Amino acid sequence: MAPKELKEKVKKVLQKHQYDKSLLVDILQDIQAESGYLPKEVLEETSKGLDVPLSRVYSVATFYKAFSLKPRGRYIINVCMGTACHVRGAVKVLEGIEKELGVKTGETTRDLKYTLETVNCVGACALGPMIIIGEDYHGEMTPEAIGSMLKNYN
Ligand code: FES
Repeated sequence: MAPKELKEKVKKVLQKHQYDKSLLVDILQDIQAESGYLPKEVLEETSKGLDVPLSRVYSVATFYKAFSLKPRGRYIINVCMGTACHVRGAVKVLEGIEKELGVKTGETTRDLKYTLETVNCVGACALGPMIIIGEDYHGEMTPEAIGSMLKNYN
């Protein structure tokens, strides 16, 4: 996104929240929803617009796991690494996805299609290993099934 466009987006969100410093978390959430992540320029604009130190904006943006300072993929793949899924082979599934996509856990593919992450138990242990892509739950996952499953996401 062009710097000018980013500035406009930040301004709009700040206006919506009436430049209320106490709403910094909500403001960052809204900005991230618009731009997908929180680039340095966005944090600087937010700091200026709200007149709060940049260090404070950074500390909030890095404290919450929901915020990302790096671009994220269109699809977030979460591999469950809870005990039940682990016992059922989650490590092999995770390694299989890393190999298929050419990224490590926590990274995003170059084409910004996928971000690979892990979670701990999503409450469907009997169906493990579980992986979640966006809103979709895929149970009893095997390394062999990864390729064909990913074909469903374009
Ligand atoms: S451990 Fe994976 S769903 Fe519970």
